[in-house]
Amino acid sequence: MRELLLVGVGLMGRPYLAAARRLGVRVHVVETAAAAAALPDQPDHTTLTSGDSDEAWAEVAAAAVAARKPDGVVAFTEPQVLAAALVADTLSLPGPSLGAAVLSRNKALQRGRFAAAGIRQPEYLIAADLHAAGQWAAGRFPVVLKSLSSAGSVGVELVADEREWADAVRRRAGEAPLLVERAVEGPEYSWEALVHEGSVWFSSITAKETTGPPYFVETGHRTAAPVDAATAASVDDFGRSVLAALGMGSGIVHLEFRLADAGPTLMEVAVRMPGDYLMDLLGLTYGIDWFEMVVRLAMSMPLPERPPQRVAHAAAHFPLAEPGVIAGIDGLDVVRAHPAVERAGVLARVGDVLAPVVSSQQRRAYVLLSADDPAAIDDGLDLARRRFVIRTRPA
Ligand SMILES: Nc1ncnc2c1ncn2[C@@H]1O[C@H](COP(=O)(O)OP(=O)(O)OP(=O)(O)O)[C@@H](O)[C@H]1O
Ligand SMILES: [Mg+2]
Repeated sequence: MRELLLVGVGLMGRPYLAAARRLGVRVHVVETAAAAAALPDQPDHTTLTSGDSDEAWAEVAAAAVAARKPDGVVAFTEPQVLAAALVADTLSLPGPSLGAAVLSRNKALQRGRFAAAGIRQPEYLIAADLHAAGQWAAGRFPVVLKSLSSAGSVGVELVADEREWADAVRRRAGEAPLLVERAVEGPEYSWEALVHEGSVWFSSITAKETTGPPYFVETGHRTAAPVDAATAASVDDFGRSVLAALGMGSGIVHLEFRLADAGPTLMEVAVRMPGDYLMDLLGLTYGIDWFEMVVRLAMSMPLPERPPQRVAHAAAHFPLAEPGVIAGIDGLDVVRAHPAVERAGVLARVGDVLAPVVSSQQRRAYVLLSADDPAAIDDGLDLARRRFVIRTRPA
């Protein structure tokens, strides 16, 4: 029996395990003790790690393959991307490529590579010292300040003018290097692609909503986004040029962009599954299990003969709450009863204290919707926005 090495599973990566089982593939999981113990379906082999750094995952993944040689490897999310790519490179297994993984992990490395490749992206500066970057920023406000290797909008902020810049320099002085970028205007989207040896097998465009400036926390997604055919074609071209510049091999790609007047403009790209239940939404939209497709790519197993067609529309919505103590959670049952709502939930309790939301990790509620008719999704979203509310009082 062939074996898949799954570097990280977490909560959202569990369908990888189920997909491998369905395909008759043994699974060796690298995880922390707590996450491994919580898996409802125990893998065939488990190697435990105690750290959560890229280096800790890489160390344990290397030890895992020294003990048992896998036939394929998949990274769950950001901190596991390098570990899986190192394994794939060492054992000559399919994967995004070591180069693509390294670029995926660092926004400044991406900017440098994509500037050379002529990919449309914001004007940027890699600032070793925020003081010295003041002159560059001065002619370009508003600018966006970001850490090189975070996710979930942690450390991303819009700086509107000189006064805010001075404040950011004070707050973030010790945090070098940082990326400073010109703020790009235009609606936000992502492009998810299943890629076989550098060629796109299937791709899809997702519309994104965020809280906007200054922290841009994601509040909603809509798969099979309603864009016209010319825009869709320009996005596909753009995505392909990014893959070429990455040196992408095989796997899944999650690319984020803004649709500016000049055309699609890159925010960032990652060679792992997207978060925010997007894999579930994509599954509902196209009637295929995207986790299984990723396992097939990793294991050199054939993909379906024909790429899928859209069979439904889908969306996710993340209601946010005002900071304070949770006084009540309203409307969950009402929302769950809506015909377009697939799943909805709350990861908080009355009495919990909520801080102001500056990153995705602080979101506490979700609603997933799907329907044949986009109007039914709009209706469900409207209901969720009005009725599904986490009420807080000042702490
Ligand atoms: N140059 C820019 N111009 C305009 N908006 C930007 C720019 N850079 C980042 N943003 C906004 O900030 C958000 C988060 O930035 P980015 O994707 O680089 O960080 P992240 O921490 O990886 O976020 P996530 O994990 O949520 O995707 C973007 O989705 C976008 O809304
Ligand atoms: Mg992002």
